[in-house]
Amino acid sequence: MSASNLIDCTFSNTDLEKKPLTVNHRLVETGLFDDEHLIRILDTHPRDCLNVHTMGVDETSNQWREGDASTLSGEQLLNATKAGRLWLNVRNMADHHAEFTKLINDIYDEIQAKTPGFNALERSANLLISSPRALVYYHLDIPCNMLWHMRGVKRVWAYPPYNERYVTQQKVEDVICGVSNEELDYQPEFDQEAMVVDLQPGQMVTWPQNTPHRVSNVEGLNVSLTTEHLTPKARRRIKLFRANRFMRHTLGYKNLSQNTEGLDYGAKVLAYSVVRAWQKLFPKKSEGYYYPVTFKLDPSNPAKIQDLAK
Ligand SMILES: [Fe+2]
Repeated sequence: MSASNLIDCTFSNTDLEKKPLTVNHRLVETGLFDDEHLIRILDTHPRDCLNVHTMGVDETSNQWREGDASTLSGEQLLNATKAGRLWLNVRNMADHHAEFTKLINDIYDEIQAKTPGFNALERSANLLISSPRALVYYHLDIPCNMLWHMRGVKRVWAYPPYNERYVTQQKVEDVICGVSNEELDYQPEFDQEAMVVDLQPGQMVTWPQNTPHRVSNVEGLNVSLTTEHLTPKARRRIKLFRANRFMRHTLGYKNLSQNTEGLDYGAKVLAYSVVRAWQKLFPKKSEGYYYPVTFKLDPSNPAKIQDLAK
C-alpha cells in the first residue's frame, strides 16, 4: 500500500507509455518549495551540481547559454531569477537533501502502488527555478520524466511520441550515445499536433520516454521538480538504441527495428555488449557535450547578464 496520498493517479501504465498526460498533485503542501526553503537549498547545494542558464526570446532560434553565479548567495540567486531571465537547474536533489530523497521515493512508491505494471528504477530529480519569462527550447530527455509544477505558470508543448517527423530515430540514437546534445530542430508548424498545457501549481505533466517537448514560462517565478526514472522497458530502449547506432554506423544497417522485446532485440543487445566489452580494453576519451560558460552574474547587480570575454 502507498503511505502517501500526493497524487491523483488517474492514468494506467499503458497511458504513461503511449501519450502525454497531466494529473493533479499535492506536493506543494510539503512546504519544501517556499522562498525560505529555496534559499537554503541554493546555499547548501554543491555549486558544481547547479547550472545557471539564460536564453533568447525566440523559441525558433536556440540561444541557450551557461553562466557562472558562483559568487552569489542563495538569496541573491533567487532574487536574480525573479527579476532577470534565468533558468536554474539544481541537479541530483536526492543525493544532497534528505527531505527530497524521501519525497522522490514517496512519489514513485505511490505511483507504483496505484498503477499496476509501473516500476520506476534509477529514480532522481532536479529542482527547476526559473524567471517569469524564461523558456526552454525544443528538446528531448533520455530517461522518462515527470514535471511536477509548484509555483508560477508555464506553457508546455509535448509533441507526438515515437514519430519521425518530430525527431528521427538516428537523432535519438545520437543523443542517447552522447554524440549530440538533447536539443532538436524546431519548426513552428509542429505545434499543430502538440499537446499544449498551461501548467498551474498542483499539476504534473509527463510524456513517453524521449518525447520532444518545450516550455515557455507565462507568469511569476516558476518552481518545478522534474523527476527522472527508468522503467525496465526504458532501460531496454536505451540499450537497443545504442546497439542500433553501432549497427547503423559501423555495419551499415538501415531500417533498424525499435522493438524492445523478442529474439531480434536480445541478439542485437548481446552482440553490442560483446563489442563494448572489447572496446573497453582500448578506451577512447569520450567527447561528451557541454556548454561553455559565456556569462557571469555579479553580486553588485545580480539580475544583469555580464558577457565573458571570448
Ligand atoms: Fe526536458
